[in-house]
Amino acid sequence: MTDFGLTRTGGALAATRRRLIIIGASGLIGRPLLAAALAEGRPAVGTYFANPAPGLVPFDLARQDLVEVFPELGPDDAVVLLGARKDANWVFANPLESQEINVDGALHAIRRANDAGARLVFASTEFVFDGVAGGYSESDIPNPSTLYAQQKVEVEQAIQSGGGSWAIARTGWTVGWERADTQCPVLNTYRSLLSPGAVMADDNMFTLTDVRDTATALLALADRSDSDVWHVAAAPPVVRTDLADWVMETSRQRARMGYERVRFSDIPYPEPRPERSWIVNHKAVQNLQITFAEPWRTVESKVRLLDAWFDSSQRLQGPPPHESQDS
Ligand SMILES: NC(=O)c1ccc[n+]([C@@H]2O[C@H](COP(=O)([O-])OP(=O)(O)OC[C@H]3O[C@@H](n4cnc5c(N)ncnc54)[C@H](OP(=O)(O)O)[C@@H]3O)[C@@H](O)[C@H]2O)c1
Repeated sequence: MTDFGLTRTGGALAATRRRLIIIGASGLIGRPLLAAALAEGRPAVGTYFANPAPGLVPFDLARQDLVEVFPELGPDDAVVLLGARKDANWVFANPLESQEINVDGALHAIRRANDAGARLVFASTEFVFDGVAGGYSESDIPNPSTLYAQQKVEVEQAIQSGGGSWAIARTGWTVGWERADTQCPVLNTYRSLLSPGAVMADDNMFTLTDVRDTATALLALADRSDSDVWHVAAAPPVVRTDLADWVMETSRQRARMGYERVRFSDIPYPEPRPERSWIVNHKAVQNLQITFAEPWRTVESKVRLLDAWFDSSQRLQGPPPHESQDS
């Protein structure tokens, strides 16, 4: 057993509980991460960019200096860098603006954290892999096809060659539990299935993780001292059509739902998307003491919630609006 992240106090091993500075605490992963940290009595602060929330401080990666916002930043802190633009289509359409946030801003904040002796946890994506083989481990070499993933790889490489104490946490599709989680993949699938013309690829595979497990993993990574890459995702991977079928089988709205089965290559994306970039989680399961919820159970629980929201929105204002199936 390794003792990374553990310090000796009076002869016993105790985990280092760093203060968390969560960049992007107003997002799908940041909100439950901050809540989980505070719930366990850990000092934690978070930032927002465009969506203020009580207790969060404003911070723009592209325009502000991390040390100006957190002048006391030091070795007892872990900066969890979630702040980013993650919509691959938006990134592709806005290469300069996305570079400023996802790469230049991220690297500047990372340098500041490093200079202050703080630990860094950087959120990356399974999209860094080309998706030809599937089942990628931490030792596989990234080969990104989208600009969004290229930006993540650029930051990953700078972190890996930059020294300091760091963790790179790659994940896949993440299921949130709040109404504000408009990019939840189960929500988007549910909406697509209710809309005419929905298509689902039967050869597209990805991981699907309950965000509460993501938060648990990020807390564990914040407390370690080793510098390493981690795949933080549930297993087994999910086929796009299986996700659609699970939603339909579980939902009270199933009679109104439907889709056409297609090949992933039939779906027009502005740039090539990885077909099967799913990652394996053995290392995280073995070393972070995490039990990831089974994707099927996560979908079942989220659909129950969506059915309840759907019923209440039907009563108030009709069906929820359609959104892109691309999450
Ligand atoms: N969710 C997933 O399925 C998934 C999968 C793989 C990797 N990831 C990565 O995990 C991280 C967090 O994802 P998420 O799902 O929580 O994303 P999200 O819901 O889109 O939240 C993004 C966060 O970044 C903040 N942000 C946006 N622009 C910023 C800027 N210029 N300066 C500082 N902060 C800025 C947002 O603030 P406002 O909301 O206040 O504008 C928000 O707090 C991202 O780096 C993403 O690439 C996510």
